[in-house]
Amino acid sequence: MSDTGKIATAELGTGGPQVGVQGLGCMGISEFYGDTDEAAARDTLEAALDVGVTLFDTADIYGSGANETFLAPFVGAHRDEITLATKFAIERSDTDPNFRGVRNDPAYIRQAVEASLRRLGTDVIDLYYMHRRDPLVPFADSVGAMAELVKEGKVKQLGLSEVTGAELREAHAVHPIAALQSEWSLFSRDVEISAVPAAVELGVTLVPYSPLGRGFLTGAFADAAKELSEGDFRKHQPRFTGENAKTNAALLEPVHTIAAAHGATAAQIALAWVQQRAQVHGLTVVPIPGTRKRSRLLENTGATRLTLTEQELRSLEPIAGQVAGDRYPDMSSTAAARE
Ligand SMILES: NC(=O)c1ccc[n+]([C@@H]2O[C@H](COP(=O)([O-])OP(=O)(O)OC[C@H]3O[C@@H](n4cnc5c(N)ncnc54)[C@H](OP(=O)(O)O)[C@@H]3O)[C@@H](O)[C@H]2O)c1
Repeated sequence: MSDTGKIATAELGTGGPQVGVQGLGCMGISEFYGDTDEAAARDTLEAALDVGVTLFDTADIYGSGANETFLAPFVGAHRDEITLATKFAIERSDTDPNFRGVRNDPAYIRQAVEASLRRLGTDVIDLYYMHRRDPLVPFADSVGAMAELVKEGKVKQLGLSEVTGAELREAHAVHPIAALQSEWSLFSRDVEISAVPAAVELGVTLVPYSPLGRGFLTGAFADAAKELSEGDFRKHQPRFTGENAKTNAALLEPVHTIAAAHGATAAQIALAWVQQRAQVHGLTVVPIPGTRKRSRLLENTGATRLTLTEQELRSLEPIAGQVAGDRYPDMSSTAAARE
């Protein structure tokens, strides 16, 4: 954090804009993590910008468009101060709330971008991601269609989410990819297999999602099935319930020890770890922890001032390998399924 009270900045993709070195994930405002106090969430957006968070992350799927609509007034008030990221590709159904389809075809992309622009109340999206990959649609078609949107001025930069290193290389050959958004945390390190080395090679910025393990790494809950409200997505994540959750909560002991030594919180240690792990790879990262609370936003951005020692990093190293249970109830559309 500089003397101005703002967090440091990082380049988003080679030659791209400078953004705050930590972004804000907005998904939880509209879905998946229980009820939201909307006034507090709006206040959190303003607090984020005040401390230099400039990358704001949403997707058309979050709340089936409601998250983009929620962000529109904030976008309107601060259009030139923020870098606005949204995503397409996950199709939902009006009749089955559990249905998820993946669409990467050009006609769908064209329709999705228009809908996102309309909901966000803007004429340009700064960073447009393909949320999930349909391996049956060639990148020449889907990334080609995304590149057309850049040409037309509807989108400034392109991103992908949950792709392998090989897929990142293939897409980058069609059009430069500025950012790869994938899960990366003390608990989830499969991205380091092939995507991270490819991102380093290509100058792609990594945007780690769920860097707090959806809240589990902070100690905010220990068993999703018992503690979280009905409808909370985490109740269905194998690693957060029952015996798995018990095993995984015990893995957090070194995180709490290190937090106590720094007078910090577990959340801050988890976020500092992502930044430092990226440095080991020589990679630029802009993690996007999600929160709807000003106090947590300030806590999380405070982590950008923390440096973990070599010994602390070593003690955190074995954690991911011992985590019980998958990241998703169905892993079929993740990059890990295609590694
Ligand atoms: N590309 C993808 O496929 C994908 C998938 C998932 C998420 N994402 C993006 O990544 C963003 C972040 O991921 P995420 O929201 O899933 O997980 P996360 O950032 O790991 O964790 C968010 C959860 O942690 C809680 N939290 C935040 N700061 C905390 C703190 N200091 N102490 C205690 N609890 C804290 C939040 O609750 P409160 O809100 O109540 O503070 C929320 O329940 C999302 O918002 C979304 O934009 C992308």
